[in-house]
Amino acid sequence: MATPEPHPISSRTRTVRVELGALAYDVMIGHGLLDRIHKFLPGRVEAPVAIITDNTVAKLLAQRIERRPEMANFLPFTLEIAAGEASKSLQNLSVLLSELAKKKIPRSGTVMGVGGGVIGDLAGFVAATYLRGIAFVQVPTTLLAMVDSSVGGKTGVNLPEGKNLVGAFHQPRLVVADLDTLATLPPREFAAGMAEVIKYGAIRDRALFDRVARGVTPQDADLAEIVETCVTIKARIVERDEFETKGERALLNFGHTLGHAIEKAAGYTRYLHGEAISIGMRAAAWLSVWHPETNLPEAEARRIEAALAANHLPTQLDPAVDRAAILAALGNDKKVAADGGNRWVLIKELGEAKSGLTVAPDLVARAVEFISQSS
Ligand SMILES: NC(=O)c1ccc[n+]([C@@H]2O[C@H](COP(=O)([O-])OP(=O)(O)OC[C@H]3O[C@@H](n4cnc5c(N)ncnc54)[C@H](O)[C@@H]3O)[C@@H](O)[C@H]2O)c1
Ligand SMILES: [Zn+2]
Repeated sequence: MATPEPHPISSRTRTVRVELGALAYDVMIGHGLLDRIHKFLPGRVEAPVAIITDNTVAKLLAQRIERRPEMANFLPFTLEIAAGEASKSLQNLSVLLSELAKKKIPRSGTVMGVGGGVIGDLAGFVAATYLRGIAFVQVPTTLLAMVDSSVGGKTGVNLPEGKNLVGAFHQPRLVVADLDTLATLPPREFAAGMAEVIKYGAIRDRALFDRVARGVTPQDADLAEIVETCVTIKARIVERDEFETKGERALLNFGHTLGHAIEKAAGYTRYLHGEAISIGMRAAAWLSVWHPETNLPEAEARRIEAALAANHLPTQLDPAVDRAAILAALGNDKKVAADGGNRWVLIKELGEAKSGLTVAPDLVARAVEFISQSS
């Protein structure tokens, strides 16, 4: 009998190595990887494997990993939390750590996070803190987690006082990005991940930008290549600036200075992170046009707006979001600006960014006004 046809899109598994000396690891990107995950673990991590996931991903995907007969050697068991950003909490950290302790998971054991960035950040922090740090595997199941949060070792939880205020750098031993998992991802979540993809193109890779400007869907034949390109860009930046002390990693914040302020002003429920970043990138694109140190041609700013729209991302601020609250969240006043204020990432041309720029408060106000109009 003929063997089944390989995945029609691309059966090739791509591997990006994140070179961090003794902490180096592989990011595997491809199709059908979840059903082969037991092949990737030996030599990298040891039993038992505590799978941490959310209740949505548990049913769709994580149970498949736990129940595979070939996984039996790894003694897998699953710990499930509720889906959603609110789960990235100290309460859940405490519950999960206690579960590992009750099960007497040894230092040689492994935490495997299966889910989006919420699960990756929380499970990673569990792995970073349990017994002062045990092995961690990332299995990202959202586009955002594949191209961004699963690579680079930032883990943590939120506090009532703000997002990501507690955390640790804890690099995974392995990242397995199975593109087939995206089949069930809601389109709005896929689009939010595309905001980060467009960001990588804008700051580092004009060819990537040109490709994604045409719009990307989960079915596209070159999705693996697109994800690989993004992961490679992030890996190279993380390698040069593992702990975000040298400015290089700050480049990843293109669109994020204003994006974070929009998320805060809108109360974290109106927009997904990627949607707020989309609007923030439109603002940063026009600030790049107006700023004397970047002088981005207007046509390039318009191309960024068009790329966001082509990927079903918002570019105009919801009028219900208070613009004064955005400026307040930025601390956009003369006093803050005088001692440095916010540092912005702006672009000189598509594919080339500059970090650490200061922007005069009146220009920031102009940008917030600008994004309130349609593009
Ligand atoms: N560590 C980092 O470097 C880094 C970088 C960027 C973002 N983050 C963090 O990532 C988080 C956002 O991650 P996210 O956008 O992946 O959100 P998420 O983890 O909340 O996932 C989004 C939703 O999709 C569901 N889901 C996940 N995979 C699915 C699938 N394959 N099919 C169907 N549904 C699925 C989840 O249950 C959830 O409801 C934020 O907390 C952010 O702070 C971290
Ligand atoms: Zn982001």
